[in-house]
Formats: sequence, structure tokens, C-alpha cells
Amino acid sequence: MNLSSTVSELCVMTQVMLDRQPTRLHPRHSRVAVLREARYADHAQPAGLVEVLRSAGHEVTVVDPQAVGPGRRQHRLRDVVNSADVMVARGRSDAVLAVLRAAAEVGVPVLDPAEAVARVRDKVAMAKVLRRAGVPTPATFIAPTEMLAARVPPAAYPLILKPVFGDNAEGLKLVMSQRELRLLNWPDRIALAQSHIPGDGVDLKVYAIGNHLTAVHKPSPINPCALAGARPADLDDRLANLARTCGRLFGLSLYGVDCLDTSNGPVVVEINDFPNFTAVPDANRLLADHVLTAAHAQARKGGASA
Ligand SMILES: Nc1ncnc2c1ncn2[C@@H]1O[C@H](COP(=O)(O)OP(=O)(O)O)[C@@H](O)[C@H]1O
Ligand SMILES: [Mg+2]
Repeated sequence: MNLSSTVSELCVMTQVMLDRQPTRLHPRHSRVAVLREARYADHAQPAGLVEVLRSAGHEVTVVDPQAVGPGRRQHRLRDVVNSADVMVARGRSDAVLAVLRAAAEVGVPVLDPAEAVARVRDKVAMAKVLRRAGVPTPATFIAPTEMLAARVPPAAYPLILKPVFGDNAEGLKLVMSQRELRLLNWPDRIALAQSHIPGDGVDLKVYAIGNHLTAVHKPSPINPCALAGARPADLDDRLANLARTCGRLFGLSLYGVDCLDTSNGPVVVEINDFPNFTAVPDANRLLADHVLTAAHAQARKGGASA
């Protein structure tokens, strides 16, 4: 993507959009713009959400802001924003975030806000927010790897190193000792390093669709174990409060909280914006209900006619 041309196109788009008609959400025929990055084209979401909305009679436009042809990008995106009663996005690209911002600026209810997605996309920003709020996490260190090798105490090893903008377990590296870390050829300027929590290879995940929470155990992507697929987990008050705190801290309403069980209770390793929700029964309908309800609430707050 050519970022400067995208930014200037979006600036023009924002000016042109000033004459946008107010949002008019209707229980059976709202216009829903779904931003979807190409990598999610074959995923359970947002396809499931789109299907339920369409079968309920809503007009759904699915667009990938990165894939709109160069010459027509400005007009196409402008039309999408101008005609949306609500916008929902699955993606973290700069293009997706820019369109979300532009839409929010002209009063389109958006799920979730660009700022919220941006803060969980960046693992350093995420770690800082969690630390400041006192959310339990594994011991976390952020620095160039040479500095980590010099400063992180031996008792904190093994460490798991994570790329700042990584996801889907890509680029993770388990490091057993200071010596190994000194010799490591890490591709980025800095790394986020966490004490590795020993376990049975099972993650504890909480999925949130608005206020609706579902807890499941899932096999860790880095530690193959006997568990195949997802298994329901207990959602006690402590875990529910932890998940809701994470959602509130980042301003997300569609999210997943990846936790690990420890003898001191769950610790948070990551928060993901808009995951696939495959382990959530009736996820498609819950998503569709939440998108429309949240859009109504935002539209009322913003003074648009709902
Ligand atoms: N500190 C940790 N200790 C043990 N396992 C971890 C730790 N951090 C992450 N993992 C494992 O690695 C997986 C991926 O890590 P995560 O932080 O979620 O990165 P990504 O954004 O790439 O998914 C987690 O689901 C968990 O199974
Ligand atoms: Mg993860």
C-alpha cells in the first residue's frame, strides 16, 4: 500500500463526506458496511455475521480498503462510508483503521473504534495499558534483544519473545538462557519478552460479543497437546471480571482474551480484536444483534437519527 496516497485520498474523502445523511438504523433494513481484510475472506468471521444480517433483510456491503483499485479507491470508499448506517471491521491494516476513523469522524457508528484496534495491534502499547491497570500478566520486558540479554534476571527465564506487531503465533521464539538471547538474531529493533509460563499446552480463552462472554480451553498454537479443538471452560466471576476489564481498558466490544491458568489464577497474554468466535455457540446471531444494538446506542449518543 502507498500510505501517503491513501492518507491524502482519505483526507479528500473526509471533506467530501461532510454532506453525509444522518444514520437511520432500521431493525430490518439497515445499511451495514463490513470492512474485511483479504486474509479473512475464508474465515468464519465476518462471513457468519454477514450471512445473518443479509438473511434478516439488511443491506450489507463487504469491502477490503486495501484491495480497492487505485483509480477508484477514493470514490468507492467515499460511497461506502456515505451510505453506511453502521460500519464493522475485521482487520488491523492502516487502510482499515483509516476508513474506520474517517467514518467515525462523520458520525457513522463503528465497531470497534480504530484507536481500540490500534492499541491491541501493538503488543508494546497493549503491555503498557495492562501493566498500568494492574492486570495480571507474565513478567514482561520490552527492549532491544542485547539489552534484554544484559538486564533480564536469570530467574525470569525461559523467555518467550514476541514481535511487536505479530499475530497468529508468527515469529514467537522461546529462549532458554541469557547466552542464547545474546546470540539470537532478532529481526526487529525491539522485542517484547515474557517469562514463559509452564503448562499443559492449553490456553484459557474468553470471547466477548458485547456483554456476552464465553470461556473455552484451546490447544496452544506453540505447544501441541492432547486437546483437539475447543472445550468449554468455567467462567467464574474472577475470569469474567478480568475479561470485562480488558475490554473496557481498550474500548473493545468484540474481542478475545488469551489467558494461561496458573496456581495464582489466570494471567493475560494477549487481547485480540474481533477473533473468529468459532468456539462461541450461536456466534453469528450474537454478533448481528450486538452490531445493530451497539450502532443504535452510538447513533443516539452522537445525535444521529436511529
Ligand atoms: N508468557 C507465555 N508463557 C507461555 N505460553 C505463552 C506465553 N505467551 C504466549 N504463549 C503461548 O503462545 C501463544 C501465542 O502468543 P500470543 O501472545 O497470543 O501471540 P500471537 O499474537 O502471535 O497470538 C499463546 O496463545 C500461548 O499459547
Ligand atoms: Mg494470541
